[in-house]
Amino acid sequence: MEHNARTPYDLLDFGSGRKLERFASVVLDRPCPAADRLPKQHPGVWASAVAQFRGSRTGDGFWSPPPKQWLPAEWRFEHSGKAPLQLQLEPLPSGQIGAFPEQAANWDWIARQVGRANQRLGEGAATKVLNLFAYTGGSTLSAASAGAAVVHIDAAQSIVDRARGNAALSKLAESPIRWIVEDALKFCQRELKRGNQYDAVILDPPTYGHGPKGEVWKIHEHLLPLLELCGKLTATRRSFILVSCHSPGIGPAELGAYLAEGVFGSCSQPALTGELSLQSADGRLLPSGVFARWPA
Ligand SMILES: C[S@@+](CC[C@H](N)C(=O)[O-])C[C@H]1O[C@@H](n2cnc3c(N)ncnc32)[C@H](O)[C@@H]1O
Repeated sequence: MEHNARTPYDLLDFGSGRKLERFASVVLDRPCPAADRLPKQHPGVWASAVAQFRGSRTGDGFWSPPPKQWLPAEWRFEHSGKAPLQLQLEPLPSGQIGAFPEQAANWDWIARQVGRANQRLGEGAATKVLNLFAYTGGSTLSAASAGAAVVHIDAAQSIVDRARGNAALSKLAESPIRWIVEDALKFCQRELKRGNQYDAVILDPPTYGHGPKGEVWKIHEHLLPLLELCGKLTATRRSFILVSCHSPGIGPAELGAYLAEGVFGSCSQPALTGELSLQSADGRLLPSGVFARWPA
């Protein structure tokens, strides 16, 4: 199968519980539970992978061959949509590499929402965005590139350092971004006590996670109380809310209900919900998480 080596990302094929992706010049073969029951469509192209991630993502996985045998000197993911950004890539022990390309549509939506909110606020004002579970900064940087002031929260210092590096790569080092290593729930509780308010909240929580002091995050237990806090933190000036996740048992309808119930206390303010997906070079869609956006 042909692929266009100039595009920054291609999903070359998926099936049998794996996905084959090209990030810049590097083709990777990684686990993908969403492709468990689907057949591979292009068996011949899988030999182009320079590395596979084998084993579980939760601790005992490994790259084969090891990254030192294939990692290029410079390896970046570029997004050139409404919010142009650059993310440094690196093979991590989790099987992740520092970018979730399926978030690209959300990055563009965020940039549009910030543009509109800035217009409403008027000359010189910056939309104040809180980004929770902010990872390597894709959403932070798309908001900042559109002119937001962003508070970026993640539990892992190393991840926040990478996000800061990505801001520099994306020429946003001087943007008004506060980089904070904190537990998401604790930070929101403290912000509420301090009386701080935000125009917008973005959150992409994992199924399970840990704050920097071992605070336990379980999406099924903690998402609703966290969204209630997000509702209170945006009560006086809410412009937009975006929540996405990739967790068993939470489809678009469930996530939309969480958002409506948590932020608004009722379903009277419905969110726009849908699936995040990656499109393969031959046009097939690979489900890659769900989102709920308000306003719809
Ligand atoms: C981007 S989210 C998950 C992304 C994707 N939806 C998935 O399920 O794989 C992962 C980020 O959340 C952060 N995280 C996990 N638990 C956290 C917590 N309690 N407070 C703040 N950040 C947390 C991690 O450090 C990581 O950078």
